[in-house]
Amino acid sequence: MDFHKLSLPEAPLIKVTPPGPKSKELLDFQSACEGSAVSYPKGLPMGLSLAKGATVEDVDGNIYIDFFGGAGVMNVGHSNPGVLAAVSKQLGRLTHSLDVPSPPRADLVKVLTSLLPDSLGKVFFGGPTGSDAVEAAIKLAKYNSQRTAMIAFQGGYHGMTAGALSLSSGRFFKEDFLPLLSDVHFVPYAYCYRCVFGKNPETCEIDCAKYLDYLLENPHSGVAKPAAAIIEAIQGEGGSIVPPDRFLPLIKDICLKHSVLLIVDEIQAGFCRTGKMFAFEHFGIVPDIMTMSKALGGVGLPISGIAYRRELDTWPSGKHIGTFRGNVLAFAAGHAALRFMLENDLASYSLNLGEKMLVWLKEIEKDSKIIGEARGKGLMLGVELVKDKATKEPAPELASQVRTICHQHGLLIEIGGHFSNVVRFLPPLILTEDLALKGVEIFEDAIKKTE
Ligand SMILES: Cc1ncc(COP(=O)(O)O)c(C=O)c1O
Repeated sequence: MDFHKLSLPEAPLIKVTPPGPKSKELLDFQSACEGSAVSYPKGLPMGLSLAKGATVEDVDGNIYIDFFGGAGVMNVGHSNPGVLAAVSKQLGRLTHSLDVPSPPRADLVKVLTSLLPDSLGKVFFGGPTGSDAVEAAIKLAKYNSQRTAMIAFQGGYHGMTAGALSLSSGRFFKEDFLPLLSDVHFVPYAYCYRCVFGKNPETCEIDCAKYLDYLLENPHSGVAKPAAAIIEAIQGEGGSIVPPDRFLPLIKDICLKHSVLLIVDEIQAGFCRTGKMFAFEHFGIVPDIMTMSKALGGVGLPISGIAYRRELDTWPSGKHIGTFRGNVLAFAAGHAALRFMLENDLASYSLNLGEKMLVWLKEIEKDSKIIGEARGKGLMLGVELVKDKATKEPAPELASQVRTICHQHGLLIEIGGHFSNVVRFLPPLILTEDLALKGVEIFEDAIKKTE
């Protein structure tokens, strides 16, 4: 398919510096009536009216290139026509059915299971958000292992519900709500740009993974035998961190050695985002449990689930329940979205375009005083900003400035990272090369204005 026709042709187009008057009105209304924890409009102040493909229009008629993709949800593009058609067809027939089977549910499960490794023979849908999938994964691991402790990774993000928040590392998110789940232990991720052991990735022995082995081996490590370890194969909110090839296989071996279940969280990295259907495929491993959400709902319809080894399917009927256990419209959307991904080989497209964009970003990095590292895989890219390339002192204020300048010039981006200093690109995967180039040019300009 020619992806050009999916996006608004005018992008980028700035008619009035955002937030324009109509946006301001909506933002003021929101501030007056909605809770103060609202967050995205603080960084990207605007009201939205339309979104197509890899472009978004605000209520003042500004049209943006979207490198944010609704936080990595819009893999097949905003308002993907095939997905919308599938949803419209389903609307008016059946939209809510708890976990009672229906043809759209069966259709989605059929495609999903054909994409998953054979060993992940069971899928299960719980509540609609990614956090819900993480809760289900925790419960399944606890139920099967009859243990309670969990291992999570520094820089990891797994959601905001109590269990998922316990496994997320960000201090800002959790410090006012403690205690959460007891017995969660955080270990280093392979964040080679800031190696906690001061090692060089070319020569190191993946000491970060080995540290987990030490914790599980040593009876005096202070860590109880955990039910599971949860990890993102490529860290998303942590700053688009791609670990070295040996990291995930080592973690998998260590988990096997100590009979600890391995949960891979594919909520952000899954569904072609990083150039494979699932990010763990880059590393030749298969988890025991996998979580999924975000792009599974096609055009942003909320759905989440887990896939797991058949042998773990021991929990009895009703052990994990809820009202929203798979929305029928989301099943129809997910089925159409997965077919679109396969028919258009979106995984290869994302891998190739991501490689090109990374080359452009690395060129910008060379000449920049504030880019510490440009990195990523497929269309999960990140640019880490620092005050000084030698000391690597994080520059979160500069990242916010870059986001604002990009917004004002027609490009939507997000910020993440351990120190909130990583500019993140998570565009719809149907981004065309010319929109990608235009977007990167706006970003480069913003970097130059910020230096
Ligand atoms: C890797 C990962 N896991 C879990 C979540 C939580 O998903 P949700 O925000 O839908 O609860 C996110 C959200 O960004 C995520 O990136």
